[in-house]
Amino acid sequence: MNHQKVIAIDGPSASGKGTVAARVAEKLGWDYLDSGALYRLTALYAEQTQTAWTDEAALAKLAAALPVQFSEQSILLDGRDVTQAIRAEHIGMGASAVAKLPAVRTALLQRQRAFLTERGLVADGRDMGSTVFPDAVLKIFLTADARTRAERRAKQIGAPLSGSLFDQILADIEARDEADRNRPIAPLRRLPDAELLDTTHMGIDESVEQVLAWYREKTDVKTA
Ligand code: C5P
Repeated sequence: MNHQKVIAIDGPSASGKGTVAARVAEKLGWDYLDSGALYRLTALYAEQTQTAWTDEAALAKLAAALPVQFSEQSILLDGRDVTQAIRAEHIGMGASAVAKLPAVRTALLQRQRAFLTERGLVADGRDMGSTVFPDAVLKIFLTADARTRAERRAKQIGAPLSGSLFDQILADIEARDEADRNRPIAPLRRLPDAELLDTTHMGIDESVEQVLAWYREKTDVKTA
């Protein structure tokens, strides 16, 4: 089989897969695709244009025509910097809602594939290995238990690690897991050919090293 020069990293929200994927891409000199950002952008653009997160036909049109520009540091939507805005918890929920709709997923498929060039691509999301890049040279299911992920998210936004705000963060993560796992289209699950990377007790550097080690095993190349 001809493998694509892609490392596909799938996993639940707040697992740290974005950080790991971006670092791996940097180490290899490859590009990085945060596919969740495209679903988040679709949800935000819908909110800005008063389009319901359930209006499949209208959302698919928005997704296909997202006026987005990615740069190293920021994401511009219609010329406005939305790097922070797309990270809001309610936009995460909106992303999860619009991601259930087949027409939206189809509209975003080619967009995602277009990120692959001869340089190589590290892509993270929910269906990178199953649908978007099924011939990826390496597939990884990166996860951590829900409490650990809630703690990481809380630290990221400067929230305390207990109390009602923390409970809300944990509940949101569990609700999104549930929605992503149980949807009929592109459900979140570990593929039989994906390596399992459970980072509950692992730091970022160790996780990055493990991904690079698997890549070396697959391709027998030196990346150090
Ligand atoms: O990864 P992130 O949390 O930014 O993704 C936001 C939402 O977008 C997820 O909860 C999921 O429902 C959806 N998503 C998806 N497929 C992807 C990436 C994200 O369905 N490849």
